[in-house]
Amino acid sequence: MASEDVMIKIDSLTKSFGRIKALNDLNLEIGRGELLGIIGSNGAGKTTTIRIICCILKPDSGDVLVDGHSIQIDPIKIKSMIGYLPEEPNLYERFKARELLRYFAELYGVPKGEIESRIEELLELVGMSDRADDKINTFSKGLRQRVGIARALIHDPPIIIFDEPTMGLDPATANTIRGFIRKLKGKKTIILCTHYMDEAESLCDRVAIVNKGQIIDIGTPEYLESKVHGDIILKVRVNNPQSIDTNKIKNICSVDALSIDGNEFSVSLNSRKDISQIVDVFGEEVVSVNTKEPTLEDVFINTVK
Ligand SMILES: Nc1ncnc2c1ncn2[C@@H]1O[C@H](COP(=O)(O)OP(=O)(O)O)[C@@H](O)[C@H]1O
Ligand SMILES: [Mg+2]
Repeated sequence: MASEDVMIKIDSLTKSFGRIKALNDLNLEIGRGELLGIIGSNGAGKTTTIRIICCILKPDSGDVLVDGHSIQIDPIKIKSMIGYLPEEPNLYERFKARELLRYFAELYGVPKGEIESRIEELLELVGMSDRADDKINTFSKGLRQRVGIARALIHDPPIIIFDEPTMGLDPATANTIRGFIRKLKGKKTIILCTHYMDEAESLCDRVAIVNKGQIIDIGTPEYLESKVHGDIILKVRVNNPQSIDTNKIKNICSVDALSIDGNEFSVSLNSRKDISQIVDVFGEEVVSVNTKEPTLEDVFINTVK
């Protein structure tokens, strides 16, 4: 990436908590206007990375440059450039939604004359104009996330960071939240931490896979999918499990991965033309045949293993 296209440059971050090495030489560049997904299992180091970018936590070594400003030198400037939705936003429960947004608008120095119109605009964006004057302690988790997003956007920052924004939400509400993120895509530089593969696949320009405090792979969802061994996964169910002869299957084609579960077996194939050959071998034994395109989940599981 050309340096003028880089919005956030993460350089050799390390961070330990006691004996736990949370980040182990983590490097990452996020482009201007990019929506970058960070995927990894629990404890991989996603939240630690984000908290360092947001200047909430100091690294043991390494640096982050946000639009050229170093977290070591310009934390105040960087904080003004980032809107952050934490994993568990600490919303002031006794405030009404509108009051909370007004409080943060003043805190972030939004010009007085713009505050009310800004609040209206954000309430509209997150679809909660009708609940603006209700207290936050009466809100469901989904409504709280909406307030949290509005709060993160209140000072109109060029960068937004979402940490697991749909975790614990029902599928419909999660989709609504994804819709808000989609509306921001292209207008802001966005980091989305998630452990939902389909979420990353459907929203992100690029996805970084983090494991044990390091980025182990990064690319477009298409690139990561193409890294799965083979282009297609074939699942065959047969009558008699004893008819599954692994040598027979291996004779037909080079299979990258073969797994057998009772009277069903799965193979990862490089070519669709191998499907009919395999099915032919089992002839009348075949009960059903299914094919599946690899998903990011397949990539992710393969990579982490
Ligand atoms: N404040 C802390 N004190 C001690 N250990 C921590 C703290 N924050 C994170 N960790 C540890 O650091 C590792 C990375 O955590 P985290 O960045 O929260 O991962 P993720 O967000 O990917 O689930 C984990 O092993 C976690 O237990
Ligand atoms: Mg986390």
